[in-house]
Amino acid sequence: MHQPDRVSLREVAPRDGLQNEPPVPTADKIRLIDALSRTGLSRIEAVSFVSPKAVPQMADAAEVWAAVEKHSGIRYSALAPNTRGVQRALDAGFTAVELVVSASETHNRANIGRSVAESLAELPDICAQARERLASVEVIIATSFGCPFEGDIAPAKVARIVEAAEAAGAGRVAFGDTTGMGTPRRVTDLLDAIDTDLPMLMHFHDTRGTALANLLTALDRGVVEFDASVGGIGGCPFAPGASGNVATEEVVHMLHDMGVETGVDLEALIRTAELAQEIVGRPLESGVLRAGPRSTKHASRNSTQDESDAGNLKPG
Ligand code: COA
Ligand code: ZN
Repeated sequence: MHQPDRVSLREVAPRDGLQNEPPVPTADKIRLIDALSRTGLSRIEAVSFVSPKAVPQMADAAEVWAAVEKHSGIRYSALAPNTRGVQRALDAGFTAVELVVSASETHNRANIGRSVAESLAELPDICAQARERLASVEVIIATSFGCPFEGDIAPAKVARIVEAAEAAGAGRVAFGDTTGMGTPRRVTDLLDAIDTDLPMLMHFHDTRGTALANLLTALDRGVVEFDASVGGIGGCPFAPGASGNVATEEVVHMLHDMGVETGVDLEALIRTAELAQEIVGRPLESGVLRAGPRSTKHASRNSTQDESDAGNLKPG
């Protein structure tokens, strides 16, 4: 298997995670982003500038962004659904914006209220406006691996959006598995269909337990940029059945053991996953959050047994 020395992770819990939870106080969002900024992560998607009627959870985006500690080594970004959102992100001082468009017509209408062609028509102007402000634009292609309304999405359809993004002057493309319909086969099929010079990022949800397998498949094909969400929170409110992103601590835990560097301090990340759990107020499903890293040693139940038993994991 092809394996890079290093992978770049973008943390999306403050946006993808919190947009899918009952609204939490502004102060908690700031606390979460500040904690993430101290884990060694180099990219954080902090907020989205969307309609507060559509997503009340992100209504305080500008307020959150104004208050968070900005670390010089971290690339913070904001998601937007349209020109208005990109403008708001640039006005708030973001230099990295992500325009989301869906590969599925039905999901694009449900999510953004218009056709894919209408979304793409705004892209050249958005890129030009961003360039004037020395900002970069990434196009996030939602439902790249399947749509909860339409089913399978032809990779050629995704490839056409990549072409449009490149022609419009976008700096990067991301493939979103909005409702966890991706499998290693679908990742391979998609990458076979894409021909671009743009950097590519993959955004997997673990709805059906395939996220880490998908990530390894993409890694083997040379992809080195991934989204992940601390505690595994996340989901699109406009996609039925959407559930958590791949958990950042699960990705970091696996990659570090493979010898792939991420720059992230796993212990600090797990503590931040605990904070995310406290903020959303329910137990999170991340295995590494619940069980700790594989190096965790538990005291043996039978203290009279041989010392070496102390290294065994508790059964169950
Ligand atoms: N930020 C804030 N407000 C926005 C906005 C933005 N980016 N874009 C539009 N609006 C406002 C309009 O000004 C208008 O306000 P008003 O009702 O006070 O006049 C209202 O939203 C409706 O605008 P309209 O152009 O008619 O669009 P719509 O109601 O079809 O909504 C979106 C379109 C894109 C704004 C909305 O669907 C949206 O925000 N979607 C985001 C979905 C999302 O975040 N999904 C998860 C992440 S992928
Ligand atoms: Zn997502």
